[in-house]
Amino acid sequence: MRAVVHDRYGPPEVLRVADVDRPVPQDDEVLVGVHASTVTRGDAMGVRSADYRFTRLFTGIRRPRSTSFGSEFAGVVEEVGAAVTGFTPGDEVFGVKHGSTAEYVTVRESGAIAPKPTGLTFEEAAAVPDGSLLALTCLRPAEPLRGKGVLVYGAAGSIGTAAVQLLAHHFEAEVTAVCDTKDVEVVRSLGATDVVDRLREDFTTNGQTYDVIFDAVGKHSFRRSRRSLKPGGTYVTVDLGFMYHVPLVSLGTRFVGSRRANLGIGRYRKEDLLLAKALVDAGKYRPVIDRTYALDEIVEAVGYVESGQKTGNVVLRVSEAA
Ligand SMILES: NC(=O)c1ccc[n+]([C@@H]2O[C@H](COP(=O)([O-])OP(=O)(O)OC[C@H]3O[C@@H](n4cnc5c(N)ncnc54)[C@H](OP(=O)(O)O)[C@@H]3O)[C@@H](O)[C@H]2O)c1
Repeated sequence: MRAVVHDRYGPPEVLRVADVDRPVPQDDEVLVGVHASTVTRGDAMGVRSADYRFTRLFTGIRRPRSTSFGSEFAGVVEEVGAAVTGFTPGDEVFGVKHGSTAEYVTVRESGAIAPKPTGLTFEEAAAVPDGSLLALTCLRPAEPLRGKGVLVYGAAGSIGTAAVQLLAHHFEAEVTAVCDTKDVEVVRSLGATDVVDRLREDFTTNGQTYDVIFDAVGKHSFRRSRRSLKPGGTYVTVDLGFMYHVPLVSLGTRFVGSRRANLGIGRYRKEDLLLAKALVDAGKYRPVIDRTYALDEIVEAVGYVESGQKTGNVVLRVSEAA
């Protein structure tokens, strides 16, 4: 089968499409024929791992332990293992699994795999899991959120576009979104009550305060957000911050002052994927897609994701059926 692989760390050019063995499902796994995948920020960072050296403790010190690439998929179940009861060949599914940018991927039945939302194409469905599941798991520790004022910084990214919709339509919060000029209308259409154009206005100086500030792109900081937080408010970020200082700051805020800082730790859970599907089916969530590339354009696709300027998600067409 054709799959995107990389034998070393480096710029997007280390990626290539290669012929590799088709995986064989274990008893508790399904084999998915992948129609569409995506390039997430995390996928791009995994390739360029030289810039994030500590992650190599987990991914391989000198070279990547796993040469496969990608994490989101949407496709059709081709085979099921002997112990699988919840899926049958022909089912349309979507989910998250490392190595998804390939014509086939095996996924545990108990893993992050669920029936594809009926109203979405494969390309649209592939763009749902990463942003929505990361946003859900990062925001949950800040609950209850109903009726609270929540500011989302970096609202036009994959996690940001997911967070705005989940906050508005699932957590039922009052959302203020911060993004750049080109994304103001998209972000407003996702359910934000207010949108701050960060190129024209600094939200920290406009006198507004919020119960929660969610830094969905990890480019702000607790120190700069502090005066925009109400007493007792919480700053949540998705990034470890400069010199990995966020865990220390988070610990410090437990003992000093009433405002808290939290590092959001994203997880991919089946129950959250089922929730994301239900929200899509109910018309409360839609994936925002910026660009779609063919599998052979993987270098360009990762280069664009690395630019940090994408709006929502970047999709890859893996098979013609997508
Ligand atoms: N905690 C976890 O478990 C976890 C897991 C995976 C990833 N992450 C982190 O999550 C972050 C966001 O991921 P993502 O996939 O949502 O990223 P993304 O889609 O690549 O984010 C792109 C968006 O970021 C915005 N942006 C870029 N530079 C900015 C800046 N200096 N200030 C404000 N906004 C800026 C851009 O919006 P504008 O149009 O406004 O410029 C763009 O729309 C990644 O950096 C990654 O480190 C965390």
